[in-house]
Formats: sequence, structure tokens, C-alpha cells
Amino acid sequence: MSRTHTAVLITGDGIGPEVIGAARRVIEATGVKMNWIECPAGLEHFEKHGEVLPDATLEALKTHKVALKGPTATPIGTGHRSVNVQIRQKLNLYAAVRPVRSLDGIATRYKDVELVIVRENTEGLYSGIEHEVVRGVVESLKIVTEEASTRIAEFAFKYAESRGRKRVTVFHKANIMKMADGLFLKCARQVHERHPRIEYNELIIDNGCMQMVRDPSRFDVLLLDNLYGDILSDLCAGLVGGLGVVPGANFSEEIAVFESVHGSAPDIAGKGVANPLAAIMSGVMLLNHLGETEAGARIKQAYNAVLASNDAAVRTRDIGGQADTAAFTDAIIARMK
Ligand code: NAI
Repeated sequence: MSRTHTAVLITGDGIGPEVIGAARRVIEATGVKMNWIECPAGLEHFEKHGEVLPDATLEALKTHKVALKGPTATPIGTGHRSVNVQIRQKLNLYAAVRPVRSLDGIATRYKDVELVIVRENTEGLYSGIEHEVVRGVVESLKIVTEEASTRIAEFAFKYAESRGRKRVTVFHKANIMKMADGLFLKCARQVHERHPRIEYNELIIDNGCMQMVRDPSRFDVLLLDNLYGDILSDLCAGLVGGLGVVPGANFSEEIAVFESVHGSAPDIAGKGVANPLAAIMSGVMLLNHLGETEAGARIKQAYNAVLASNDAAVRTRDIGGQADTAAFTDAIIARMK
């Protein structure tokens, strides 16, 4: 008999419960036995209970070491610190991995996108160290350490080697931030010396973005600092059909939290129309991480088939269809049988 896996489930805010609910249904339809430990986090929990990230949720993540997480909302310009940044920093989830690939049946300008973003998740401009020096003058500190830069570069090169990928490209702005981005580059170059079989190159980020939208098929593994990784993740999602189709994972040495790139999408929350695919794909990454690769492959084959059918009745609006979240999810489950 197959074993039961325990994983934390954080449904989050906005469309979170809708898309995580769909991912849960799809995972359960594979027959893999999951013991979900449901834990709260986010703005809606804060409004009811006065805390955005309960200690019990952090403890559950430390204990069970695997999680499927929905998006959590963060107020703009005021209010609490992002739950995501807190989780990533407190649990040292230093590496965000976002695979971005073209999907048959989703019409975009590009056909051959097959890249992976590796984003440093714990420092850079997300240090949260900001203050008003004098009235009207604010400082926001970009923290770059040799330790974290080396660690994320090692992760990117090892990831490239283990997945049979050929090249790591760093996007940077070391022509302007000579010290901060200069240190990030220095560490990446040193790590590359230990992985000579993987090609390595560097692009100044503005040029990199231009090259990306001209021909994304040129890129393989991208190694980026925290802010650049955040921005490039959304840019690359736009190349393959939008935020509804890009999954992700955040790794420490011990813990893995799987979550889509997208946010809580307040404009469509509660309407039942969100695209659940990014959450479902994140669920596939979770299953693979748990060693349930056969179940993961079945889900992947099912959503590929649903998309390839080009049937507007079984895909959500953001990717050219008319289906709601439930109908798209049902179609994927039906294809798995
Ligand atoms: P967003 O990703 O929530 O939405 C951007 C646009 O993409 C919206 O038009 C939305 O409707 C659409 N969209 C996103 N996911 C979709 C899906 N699955 N299906 C169909 N359409 C989808 O980004 P936004 O508006 O910048 O942020 C909203 C909130 O989410 C903010 O509070 C932000 O802090 C939070 N956020 C949380 C993240 C996380 O928890 N990992 C990541 C990004 C943002």
C-alpha cells in the first residue's frame, strides 16, 4: 500500500482558496494519499485574528517541511510586511524556482519558451530596512552578502546540472550598483568555476529584458537577485500565457513551499473564474518532490491534453476560454481517468 504524505496547506487570500482547492482536488484524484495540515496566513486572517503569520503556521512548516501555499495579500505603501517575505526569510527559503514553458494550445507570440528562473529569495532590496533620513528623504537598503549570493549561484548551477540544462545567465545592473550587483556577479563567476560543464553568461538587465522579449527561446536557467527575479517572473509569465500558467517553489536545505507566481488577484477573487493551472502545476512540483512522479506525470499529461484540445468550454477566460475554475479543473480530472 502506498504511504500517506503529510503537507501543510495554506489557502491564503483572494483567489487562493479557489485555486488551491482545485489543486487539492486534482492531487487527490491521482490516488496519492495526502494528509493536509491546514494553516492560516494572510490579510484575511489578519483582519479576523490580528496576525498575518501565526507562529503555529511557521511551526507546522518547520515540522512537516512541505507545503502547498496560495497567494497572500500585502497592503501597498503601508501596513504589515509581506507574509511571503516573512516566510522566506524566517525559514531561509532562499531559492525560488519558477519553470516557464510554452504550452500547446495557448496562443502567444512565442513557441519555444523553456526556461527556469532561479531567484534569490532572502535579501537584496527585500531586506525591509527602510527609514526616513530627514523629512522628504528616504533610504531603502539593498543588502547583498557573499554567503547568500554564493548559495543561490550554487543552487542554480546544481539545478542546471541535475536537470540536463546547458546554461546559466545572470541579469544584473553592476554597471550602476557596482558593489551590490558586483558582489552577486563575483560570486556567480566563482561558482561557475566549480561547474565548468555549464555555460555561463551575464547580461545587464535592461538589455536582458529586451533580448527576452525578442527571443525567449535563447534562455535556459536565469539566475537573478530578489527584485529582478520577482519582475522577470511576471515578464516571463506574460510570454507563455500569463500568471495563470506559471508555477513555483521556494526551497531551503530542508523545507519546500510550492506556490504559483501570481498574487491574490483581488479583481477576480470570489468570482470562481481564476485559472487554477498555476496552482495545479505547483502541485505537480510538490508531488515530484515527494517522489510521486508517476502521479505528477499523469496530471501534466492531463492538463496538456485539455489545453491541446483547444476547447474554449474547458479553459478559463485568461487563456481564451469561457470555463470557470471548477469546469477547467473537472476537465483535467476527467482526462486523468
Ligand atoms: P496578481 O498576480 O494578483 O494579479 C495580476 C493580474 O493577473 C490581475 O489582473 C489578475 O486578475 C491576474 N491573475 C493573477 N492570477 C490569475 C489566475 N490564476 N487566473 C486568472 N488571472 C490571474 O498581482 P497583483 O495585483 O500585483 O497583486 C495582488 C496581491 O497579491 C497583492 O496584495 C500582492 O502583494 C499579492 N501577491 C502575492 C503573491 C504571493 O503570495 N506569492 C505574489 C504576488 C502578489
